[in-house]
Amino acid sequence: MSQKTSNQMWGGRFASGPDAIMEEINASIDFDRRLYAEDIAGSKAHAEMLAEQGIISTADATAIRDGLDQIAAEITEGRFSFSREREDIHMNIEARLAEIIGPSAGRLHTARSRNDQVAVDFRLHVKAALQSTAGALTRLIEALLDRAEEHAGTVMPGFTHLQVAQPVTFGHHCLAYVEMAARDLSRCRDALERLDESPLGAAALAGTGFPIDRHRTAQALGFREPTRNSLDSVSDRDFALEFLAVAAIAATHLSRLAEEIVIWSTPQFGFVRLSDAFSTGSSIMPQKRNPDAAELVRAKPGRINGALISLLTVMKGLPLTYSKDMQEDKEQVFDAIDSLSLALAAATGMIRDLSVDTERMRASAGHGYSTATDLADWLVRELGLPFREAHHVTGRAVALAEAGKVGLEALPLEALQSIDGRITEAVYSVLGVDASVNSRTSFGGTAPDNVRSQIAYWRERLTREADQQQSGDRS
Ligand code: ARG
Repeated sequence: MSQKTSNQMWGGRFASGPDAIMEEINASIDFDRRLYAEDIAGSKAHAEMLAEQGIISTADATAIRDGLDQIAAEITEGRFSFSREREDIHMNIEARLAEIIGPSAGRLHTARSRNDQVAVDFRLHVKAALQSTAGALTRLIEALLDRAEEHAGTVMPGFTHLQVAQPVTFGHHCLAYVEMAARDLSRCRDALERLDESPLGAAALAGTGFPIDRHRTAQALGFREPTRNSLDSVSDRDFALEFLAVAAIAATHLSRLAEEIVIWSTPQFGFVRLSDAFSTGSSIMPQKRNPDAAELVRAKPGRINGALISLLTVMKGLPLTYSKDMQEDKEQVFDAIDSLSLALAAATGMIRDLSVDTERMRASAGHGYSTATDLADWLVRELGLPFREAHHVTGRAVALAEAGKVGLEALPLEALQSIDGRITEAVYSVLGVDASVNSRTSFGGTAPDNVRSQIAYWRERLTREADQQQSGDRS
C-alpha cells in the first residue's frame, strides 16, 4: 500500500492515498495532456461567464484568466511539470492554478464537473481534427485535379479483376479518386454539423442550480449552440465515433490509391515512377527503389479501423451517464487523427510528385484485346447483330488474334470476314485505344472531353463550397 496522502482535489472523504496500481490505471495525464489548449480555453470561457453572471467576482475571474494564460505558456514552452498524482489534464491545470493564484483557483470549478469539462475539451479537439481533415482532403482533391487535367487524354488500361478490361484515360482514373475524396470531405462536414454543440455546463450529469449561461460559453468556444440534455452531454462520444468512421473510410480510399501506386511503380507495370523524395532504397539490394510511403499509407487502415472498433467496443452497453470506461476514448482517436493526417499528406505528396510514363500506359492499354468490346459494339451498330451474338463473333476474333499472336487491330480483314462475311474495312476505326476512349462519351464515361468537363465541374464546386463554408463561419 502506498503511504500517499489523499487526493487534493477529491480526497476529502479518503483517509489514505491510492495504491500505486490504482494510480497507474487511473492516470490519463500521459495522453490527455494533448488536450491542454482546449482545457484552458474551456476554463477561460467558463470563468468569464461565471463572472458575467455574478457567480464569482470579476477579480477572481481576472486572476483565473491570467493564471491560465501563464499555464498555457508554461506548457507550450515545455516548462510545465505534469504529475501522475494529479491524474489528468484537468486536475494538473487546476492544481497549478492554485499554486499560482492561491485559493481563488478553487472557484473555477463552480457549476462544472470534470465530466462536462472532458466532454467539451474532447469535442473541441475532434472538431479541429475534422476541420483539418477537410483541409487536407481538399488539397488531395486539388492535386488529383491537376494530374487529371494534365492527363485528360493519356490512355491507360482500365482493369477489372486486375486484368486489362477496356482502355480508359489516366485523367478519368484520377477523377475516380476525386469522387471518393469529395465524399469523404462531405462526410467531414456532416460530422462537423452534428458535433457543433457545447456540453459545457451540463456539470456532473444533471445540470446545475447556479444561474449559468450556457449559450454564452457555447458561443465563446465557437460552438453553434449548447447541447440540450445534460445526461447525454456527459455520456455522448458519438462525435468521436463519427470522426473515426469518416477516418476509416477515407483511409480505406487512400489505401486503394496507395496499392495502385505500389503496383504501377513496379518494373513490370512501369506506369509511374516515384521521385527520390517518396522512395527508399534497400540496405542490401542497391538497385531497389521501394515505395515505402505508399505501403505505409496502404497500412494505415490497420490502426484507424482498430481505433473505430476499439471505441465502439468501449461505448457498447455503457449505462448513462459518465463511466470511467470513457477515459479510454482518447488515445486511439489521437492516433487515428495523426495517422490520417500523415496518410493524407503522403498521398497528396505522391500524387503531385509521380512521373507518369504515358507511352508505357498507352502500350499496355492495347494489350489483352482491350478493344474487344468496341468490336462487339461495332457489330451491333453497323451490322445490326444482337449484342449476345456480337459478343460471340468477337470472341472468335479474339481467339484468332491469340492464335496468331497479334492484337485485334492487326488481324487481316480476311480473317475477320471468315467469321462474319459482312465485316468491312471500316471496323478498324474502332479497334485502336484512342478511338475507344474517345467514343466513351456517355455521362461519367472516360472520353477526354468528359474528363475535362468533370474537372471544370469540380473546380467550380470546390470554390463554391469553400465560399459557403467561409460565409457560414462568419455568420
Ligand atoms: N480523465 C477523465 C476522462 O478522461 C476526466 C473525467 C473524470 N470524471 C470523473 N468523474 N472521474 O474521462
